[in-house]
Amino acid sequence: MSAVSAARTLLKLHPRLFHGRTRLAAAVTSRAPPPPPPPHTSVGNKVLFSSSAQALRSEGRVTVHFIHRDGQKTTTSGPAGSSLQDVVLAQKLDIPGFGACEGTLACSTCHLILEQEVYDQLGLIVDEELDMLDMAYGLTDTSRLGCQVCLSESVEGLTVRVPARVNDMRQADDTGSSSSA
Ligand code: FES
Repeated sequence: MSAVSAARTLLKLHPRLFHGRTRLAAAVTSRAPPPPPPPHTSVGNKVLFSSSAQALRSEGRVTVHFIHRDGQKTTTSGPAGSSLQDVVLAQKLDIPGFGACEGTLACSTCHLILEQEVYDQLGLIVDEELDMLDMAYGLTDTSRLGCQVCLSESVEGLTVRVPARVNDMRQADDTGSSSSA
């Protein structure tokens, strides 16, 4: 069995060994054994990596600026360790269609666009989120799902932009079309 085949077999058997497609590509092309996963913990269905896990232990609040579809700005905050989706729901922000699957990685309606600096700080993305992001309307290089991004004091004052529309893949029909709001 070639090294490439071995890497693919390993991915099928242990998908959690690879966190994001970039790492998978590196493992396959370099033919080197995959690096161990970073330290993480789980909260509900979310996998929190080291920086997010530290945030969970923090008691501070983090300021978040939301830029809505009409260009209006809402400034609010949420406790460190909570997700951007938690903030939207707790503060009752008016974002139609947002968070339809309640954070189960099944809809992509919590798609938000981050600043490059904040995006870079958040680190690796699990494949399940990447798969949902592929179906998000208006995908950008700094897109994330709000239900998977946890606040920490290192991103204090971050600004997130709400895309012009949402796709809810749970409502896609057999032709592949989906609802939008
Ligand atoms: Fe559905 Fe985040 S709320 S994927």
